[in-house]
Amino acid sequence: STPGPLAGRHVLVTAGPTHEPIDPVRYIANRSSGRQGFAIAAAAAQAGARVTLVAGPVTLPTPAGVDRVDVETAREMAAAVDAALPADVAVMVAAVADWRTADAPAHKLKKDGSGTPPPLALVENPDILATLCRDPRRPALVVGFAAETNDVIAHAVAKRARKGADWIVANDVSGDVMGGTANTVHIIDAEGVDSLPEMPKDAVAEAIVARIAHTLANGTPA
Ligand code: C5P
Repeated sequence: STPGPLAGRHVLVTAGPTHEPIDPVRYIANRSSGRQGFAIAAAAAQAGARVTLVAGPVTLPTPAGVDRVDVETAREMAAAVDAALPADVAVMVAAVADWRTADAPAHKLKKDGSGTPPPLALVENPDILATLCRDPRRPALVVGFAAETNDVIAHAVAKRARKGADWIVANDVSGDVMGGTANTVHIIDAEGVDSLPEMPKDAVAEAIVARIAHTLANGTPA
């Protein structure tokens, strides 16, 4: 295998949004570009890991040395994550849609002239991160992400407990982070909060991957 601090490790990464169909031509989506997740997959491969990148619909090239599985919906992403196990590390960066339509008709919805829009019944999607954390095949290290616009740390601490993740990487998306190239993150683990300065998403990825490698080797991040 490739030399490096993650040689011999399998790292699973989710990235991008999911698309939830309304009908054959319309969908529910969000503004995730996939950039941060792709950067983490690239950095993990650079560090020598075998990397499986489960990607929602994005327009990004596959990083060198990465096995990419393209999916569209949250349920497809959940199945691809399950199929990729076992893994030593999972980094769940995808912005999974919280809801999907209860049923998407096989034909395009039409205006019927009544002026009344069609009802859009939603149902909750599976929580892929929380499901993985409860799985008997749970990776030794599971990292979740949290995009917050306010009370960033407090929400991330609560999310870490609720999901059962080892770390939550919280980012403040009140500015133009989504789709942008820079990011400011706080890593919440059992010990506390590690706040990194604002830096490009590639540098955030390298810092997270270095922290992962150090933790797998030594049991602690630093
Ligand atoms: O609950 P929230 O969406 O804010 O949590 C974000 C974290 O949970 C991210 O790591 C995201 O990839 C993961 N997640 C997931 N499946 C969902 C919702 C979120 O894996 N359905």
